[in-house]
Amino acid sequence: MRSVKFIFFLGLVFSLPILTTAQTNSLPHLERKGDVTRLLVNGKPFLMLGGELHNSSMGNVDYMRPIWKRMADANLNTVIASASWELVEPQEGKYDFMLVDSMILGARKAGLKLIVLWFASWKNGKSTYTPAWVKQDPKRFPLAKDEQGNNLEVLSTLSTNARDADARAFAALMKHIRQIDQREQTVVMVQVENEIGTMGTKRDFSAPANTAFQGPVPAELMRYLEKNKSIIHPGVLDTWQKQGLKKSGTWEEVFGKGVRYDNWKELSYLTEELFMVWHYAQYVGIIAAAGKAEYNLPMYVNAWLKQPGRFGHAPGNYPSGGPTPHMIDVWRAGAPAIDFIAPDIYATSEWRYVCDTYTQSKNPLFIPEARSNSATVARSFFTFGNYVTNLFAPFGIDGNDDNQAATAADLLELKDAYATLGQLTPLIIQHQGTKNMTGLMVDQNTKSDSVTIGGYMIKGRLGRRFGGGELAGFDIFGSAPGSSGSQPPPEQAGGAIIIATAPGEFIIAGKNMSIDFAAPNPSASSKVGILLLEKGIVKESTWVPQLRLNGDELRITLAADKSKIFKVVLYNY
Ligand code: DGJ
Repeated sequence: MRSVKFIFFLGLVFSLPILTTAQTNSLPHLERKGDVTRLLVNGKPFLMLGGELHNSSMGNVDYMRPIWKRMADANLNTVIASASWELVEPQEGKYDFMLVDSMILGARKAGLKLIVLWFASWKNGKSTYTPAWVKQDPKRFPLAKDEQGNNLEVLSTLSTNARDADARAFAALMKHIRQIDQREQTVVMVQVENEIGTMGTKRDFSAPANTAFQGPVPAELMRYLEKNKSIIHPGVLDTWQKQGLKKSGTWEEVFGKGVRYDNWKELSYLTEELFMVWHYAQYVGIIAAAGKAEYNLPMYVNAWLKQPGRFGHAPGNYPSGGPTPHMIDVWRAGAPAIDFIAPDIYATSEWRYVCDTYTQSKNPLFIPEARSNSATVARSFFTFGNYVTNLFAPFGIDGNDDNQAATAADLLELKDAYATLGQLTPLIIQHQGTKNMTGLMVDQNTKSDSVTIGGYMIKGRLGRRFGGGELAGFDIFGSAPGSSGSQPPPEQAGGAIIIATAPGEFIIAGKNMSIDFAAPNPSASSKVGILLLEKGIVKESTWVPQLRLNGDELRITLAADKSKIFKVVLYNY
């Protein structure tokens, strides 16, 4: 696999001159202005139109060779790809960065930016990406136990040996990335671990964990909660309040005995979850800090969500200790080196709820994983319009046999959507965090949506309409025409981004939606008409009309198969 060309490349990058302070100051970083936090790359906001590769894709250079270009051809500007501990440090203290180098070179040659995933102590609530020398030495690297005392294939957070070994490997990785990439800055961010937490138990029941659970809530966490009482998550505050807002005590004295609730949005076994999150945050915070000391890139953790459906909704059904939105305070207190927490959105019916909960208390929105399908693609327009979104990335973007991977058709749809969002990017950046940009989203459960912007009400309905104004398409009435009804119909969603560019003037883009206009407070004397409607493109922030629509065609229909951009000017009569 190690080609001559590749070794030549390594020779080149290692001979780069040492960078000046001015250059290091312009490393990719997060900038917060008021309530708006954005990723800056080369000093400018960078909107990531991304996709995450499948978990094992980075394990083979030949497999990846054609993929990089395919990603760039699909209009992605950022790819999320993994480096796993077991491949980086197969023998303790002996690092192999060949795959990391090939990943950075592959992305760079294709003109893509990279987010590197560090699959190490935990991935998806288990410890399957650790090197064999960790797996085979549970004495040195102890495992978590369930309530019955059974070992889980999950490292215990109470092990400083595992934490320090992980931190050493991560620091070596970040040092290496700095050495080969600081000048080009292909790598713009790093995810530390993946969907961390412990699956299969509400908390770790190993002996050290039991002792810690019977012991006091750490003073550091108590101080943080005291200081931030006015802004901490209402569910956490409520639980703490019910116990009398104690300033110290054991976990159960301060937060009460954990309870299981039927409603998935309630905080089942909150006390156990708080305990787990604190220990995960402490562990991961030390790893992230060790990495940042070598190369100070933005770092985040991603979440397997608490969600309705088949997985269940109590900690342990989803990884207990992960960055669920009600745990943001604990992550902030325990892991200051982690810059934000990010949701992986597979529970697409809860899209809006998830984005709302992850943007509360000023956590910036980055979506590193989402289900790869047509509905997700439609939702990208809403998401960039309605939130200050820095990253959007469907999962399994290189496609393979996995049922979560993108099909060729999904990739074509994403290519089309990213072409449109790419055109809109300067406008999106210009309007982020203002009242002049918003979004609409509909799906098979909620078929209409409306917003008030720039003095008008803009309504969206799922699907396209016939000439007479009727909504058409199987999507709003149930199963597809001609379908047998035995298969569940594919998920349907429509999405639009709306930007107010001047009084009464809007740019509207998206998919699978019909748009109508009204006055915010309709009355006989305040009707809204369309004065001008054009279909077109945006080139370097400037509107380029391609078709003037008038008379019978004065309506905005965003097709299901291809995204479109319209400019509309409204008037009142
Ligand atoms: C979520 C994980 O974070 C990903 O790494 C991947 O395993 C997907 N699930 C698969 O659906």
